[in-house]
Amino acid sequence: NDSIPAVASTVEARTPPYTLLLKRLHEVRRLLPNRPLTLAEKILFSHLDNPEESLLEGTNNGADIRARATLKLKPDRVAMQDASAQMALLQFMSCGLPTTAVPASIHCDHMIVGEKGADTDLPNSITGNKEVYDFLESAAKKYGIEFWPPGAGIIHQAVLENYAAPGLMMLGTDSHTPNAGGLGCIAIGVGGADAVDALVDAPWELKAPRVRGVRLEGKLSGWASPKDVIMSLAGRLTVRGGTGYIIEYTGPGVESLSCTGMATICNMGAEIGATTSIFPFTPSAHIPYLRSTHRGSIAEQAAAIAASPGAYNLLVADSGAEYDDEVVINLSELEPHINGPFTPDLSTPLSHFKKVAKANAWPETFGAGLIGSCTNSSYADMTRCESLVRQASEAGLKPKADFFITPGSEQIRATVDRDGTMKTFEDAGGMILANACGPCIGQWSRTDGVEKGEDNAIFTSYNRNFPGRNDGNRKTMNFLASPELVTAMSYSGRTDFNPLTDSIPLPNGQEFRFDPPHGTDLPGKGFAAGNPEFQPTPPVADSSVEIAVDPQSDRLALLEPFEPFPQGELTGMKVLVRVKGQCTTDTISAAGPWLKYKGHLPNISENTLIGAVSADTNAVNSVADVDGSTYTIPELASKWKADGQPWVVIAEHNYGEGSAREHAALQPRYLGGRVIVAKSFARIHETNLKKQGVVPLTFANEADYDKLAGCDEVSTEGLYDVLSNGGNGTVSLLVKKHGTGESFNVPVKYNLSKDQCGFILAGSALNLLSQRGR
Ligand code: F3S
Repeated sequence: NDSIPAVASTVEARTPPYTLLLKRLHEVRRLLPNRPLTLAEKILFSHLDNPEESLLEGTNNGADIRARATLKLKPDRVAMQDASAQMALLQFMSCGLPTTAVPASIHCDHMIVGEKGADTDLPNSITGNKEVYDFLESAAKKYGIEFWPPGAGIIHQAVLENYAAPGLMMLGTDSHTPNAGGLGCIAIGVGGADAVDALVDAPWELKAPRVRGVRLEGKLSGWASPKDVIMSLAGRLTVRGGTGYIIEYTGPGVESLSCTGMATICNMGAEIGATTSIFPFTPSAHIPYLRSTHRGSIAEQAAAIAASPGAYNLLVADSGAEYDDEVVINLSELEPHINGPFTPDLSTPLSHFKKVAKANAWPETFGAGLIGSCTNSSYADMTRCESLVRQASEAGLKPKADFFITPGSEQIRATVDRDGTMKTFEDAGGMILANACGPCIGQWSRTDGVEKGEDNAIFTSYNRNFPGRNDGNRKTMNFLASPELVTAMSYSGRTDFNPLTDSIPLPNGQEFRFDPPHGTDLPGKGFAAGNPEFQPTPPVADSSVEIAVDPQSDRLALLEPFEPFPQGELTGMKVLVRVKGQCTTDTISAAGPWLKYKGHLPNISENTLIGAVSADTNAVNSVADVDGSTYTIPELASKWKADGQPWVVIAEHNYGEGSAREHAALQPRYLGGRVIVAKSFARIHETNLKKQGVVPLTFANEADYDKLAGCDEVSTEGLYDVLSNGGNGTVSLLVKKHGTGESFNVPVKYNLSKDQCGFILAGSALNLLSQRGR
């Protein structure tokens, strides 16, 4: 037994390397004299592998860093959820290293179905996913990764409670990783291939983001909650408004928020496409939270750094720091918002919702109210909801809609259980689901008789509401709201109920009206530890552990390397589909039952683009081959793969929005997709494509989108030279129309660093890492 002591599971091991970071910050100050830094810049730049190269090269000697510099970063930590960890680990295994280069954790949260309640659902899911959990646990033991078993909680809540700390930089294989920004971290959602960079100690690349300041003034009160801050911001900025930006919160209103409230706000920064979001170190919120989660020594160190002279103050922005733009939100005037359906930026203030719902003919009633998830299951959220449930119970009311509660972690569940909150929910008829994602990620087995394809509405305190996201029914309209609003509205079951102004009739003829919710940020008796079986395995690498992958398995398959780029242009590709409208990572690689195949690339590829609408036919998942025969999109892709026919996808704006799901890049690559041409891309997805050797190109003239159609032939011109020259030169596409044979040229743009050109030429980033002998 050849055990390698990795990082000890102690507070010290979970403390950011402050001495090193302050030294690097000093170096950054030397390179960029007289330049005030935002908080995001301080933390990012203190994690540069080579500050001089990243900050001064190609940036007009440091004058023009944002959106220009390529930052080569060394994150402190990696967190992975079970669905994405499979592919991340399969890729890490190909590198042949004995242990991870930085501390890492795996969280089993995405594959647990919500149906009958935690006591039944958890054991069923453990049995159903045993092969995958065994794989993850054995890999964790072999490489010294902390393994949080199913039932322990949702990745972002566990990270906030255990790993997040002011000044830390971490990567997470999940798009809501920025949740940790609520505790002053730079936490970025990435695909597994990016996580592998950090795990093998290769610098992780990021185009230096712009920084948008969101200045908070005033103070929340009554029904307004932290969730409403980000819900209203999503309405103002849209799902693309954060692309290329870090959102940095500033202003006096910050002081009035709790740490978990800040985390909710940062969590949903993903909904506006932000690289990440961050709050400054805020003693009033962060010190009590760190202490109550048993990290008092981190609180003390952070407080000392925040009080240190300006040059060494890593944890708040410099005075005079410049933001690319600034948005102001007055918390005192903020009203609750409801966002949706089907997109998180369709934001309606509660006072207008009745009218808007009627005008859009949205359903008048809704069948389920779901609270909790990684976004909103803090002690404050749960106790504020409890205060509403108590009022209603005392008036003799029960929820009209089914009412579900998803605790974010075992620590939260055990604490609210001890403090009687769970009993209040259960007595009211609420169903407590497992500490897991469940209905937030399509793992919801509904028992209320709503059929697939049936129009219906639900209200959730989750963060995302794309079609099919919760129950696999693309017609289910998910309206996002604060947990308080979801709870109160569940008692009416009507979408037009405004708990601030409307009342509910009681059997005795009287009317019941809710008083505003109230709660407690942190438990007076401290957090309960909960079930000891839900503690993580220690991070000690044991090389004697065997990682078994059965060649017959339909859940796990070892990876074969992708073929390298040809020695020349890509020619004779065909358009598989011209996608119309929104194309999220859910559209490209659906979740729900497909999560089962996350570790088996051939099997999960059978869902590729099944949610996409073809602009040629206006139909979902229906395309034609050159002879006119119709197929589903994955069927035609597989047929073309078998025929050796490479293909491209044509798409509109923000292609790949929504999540860090790298399967949305891996699957098209596996099936023979070589190029995606879109009007624009979501950042994480664009990076994921390049890492898997797929070339993302954008139209120079958006109108050219209309000139292409399925089965048109596409060849690149200039791409090989651009890749060979490290990202310099021009590229266009030569298009030959299917049917008429008419030819024309389409100019395109690209966003490729030298390293990314290397990934594509090698066939994938992993191929390149292997070539370099890592
Ligand atoms: Fe899980 Fe939904 Fe959060 S899938 S990680 S609870 S966004």
